[in-house]
Amino acid sequence: MARAVFVCSECGAESARWHGRCPSCGEWSTLVEERAAEPPRGAPRAGGAHRARALEPVPLSEVEAPRVERLETGIGELDRVLGGGLVPGSLVLIGGSPGIGKSTITGGALGNLAAAGRKVLYVSGEESAAQVKLRAERLGEHALRVPIVVETDLDTVVATIEAERPDACVVDSVQTLYAQGLTGAPGSVGQVREVAGRLMRVAKERGVATILVGHVTKEGALAGPRVLEHLVDCVLQFEGERERTFRTLRALKNRFGSTNEVGVFEMRERGLVEVEDASRRFVAEATRAPGSVVLCAMEGSRPLLVEVQALVAPTEIVPPRRVANGVDRNRLALVLAVLARHARLGLGSSDVFVSVAGGVRVDEPGVDLAVALAVASAARGVPLGAAGRPLAAFGEVGLTGELRHVAHPDRRLAEAAKFGLEPVIAPGAPGRTIRAALRAAMGAAERAEAAA
Ligand code: TYD
Ligand code: MG
Repeated sequence: MARAVFVCSECGAESARWHGRCPSCGEWSTLVEERAAEPPRGAPRAGGAHRARALEPVPLSEVEAPRVERLETGIGELDRVLGGGLVPGSLVLIGGSPGIGKSTITGGALGNLAAAGRKVLYVSGEESAAQVKLRAERLGEHALRVPIVVETDLDTVVATIEAERPDACVVDSVQTLYAQGLTGAPGSVGQVREVAGRLMRVAKERGVATILVGHVTKEGALAGPRVLEHLVDCVLQFEGERERTFRTLRALKNRFGSTNEVGVFEMRERGLVEVEDASRRFVAEATRAPGSVVLCAMEGSRPLLVEVQALVAPTEIVPPRRVANGVDRNRLALVLAVLARHARLGLGSSDVFVSVAGGVRVDEPGVDLAVALAVASAARGVPLGAAGRPLAAFGEVGLTGELRHVAHPDRRLAEAAKFGLEPVIAPGAPGRTIRAALRAAMGAAERAEAAA
């Protein structure tokens, strides 16, 4: 049996025994078990005289970089987030909470690849073949063409991949596989690392595009934490709330493409459906009631209009509640502080709820102004927007009450114009402060009411 060593996940120091505290860097609970690499036979011993041959550096301009043909999964939004499809021999980690749709999207992708004549393999360590079949029946005939093995022993899985040599392979999930020779339970850091490392070697050696499905811990980190993220070529994160239908797929790391791309999906009766024109859906659903503002957001390189809703209600609770769904809590706190200090809108004795409709998460500074306007509109009970159309806005709010520019204003404006949302309240239009923006938004709403 291979010798086991304990490696500190902070400093990388090795130790023959487990310690609660790393003897090298002093961090607590960082040692994880790993299998020691066996030195290749005939290799010179450490410290032995070994004359290495010097290499001849090559100018980058002369390096040959063959264009690899990508494997298109046939799921447009997934291909886009990957940077144009799966790269042969690459290792992709796709993470998300249980029930979000990881097995659904990977099963669908393999099905499409199989239908396109590619050799594929689905390794399930989590569900029985019958369970996977039930899902595939909902997804359609392509998904039913995918060959499956149900196995949790890593050696057997690796042997199967080597024998089958598929073009693309899904391992669902990386936490259920078990490496013999390590004492840790499946899913422990040492195990997950060993499993991913072995699968990576097979992927590179045999040119198998491998998708590892991973669960997300309560804190939201991909399990087998940072160690795994360093190892793989691409980390995709599936987000959204289980009860809601909208899901977003984001690249957190991508060696073969941009990390800005975001895919939007909807979970339907027959699997995940790509939402190509998400803006249209969200604008059509915008309520136009007090507290509703359309945010011109950027999801990667794509503009996306989403509805931000706010509710302000008097409360006796101290401190009052601040609930944020789909936007960062700290951003909400900042916006409320700026409203109180610079726009005379103190909400110290009110609960404030803010959410992005449809269960979408917006992680960018441009959300501030839309949140501020939605909260102000809710607090005053004034609906914003005119002529039956919701008000659109974007921009970052600074600590001194100024509006700050955010990336791609032109694309955001163009997207709003596509749906007739004009004018858009944004930094510089009509002013540079939150007060100017509020005055313009409220003023337009009042004029519209007077005219009606
Ligand atoms: P699943 O892909 O198994 O999630 P994960 O692998 O991330 O744990 O399924 C996600 C949920 O979606 C599950 O609760 C059932 C539901 N679902 C549908 O609504 N429609 C469908 O066609 C499928 C396949 C699943
Ligand atoms: Mg699953």
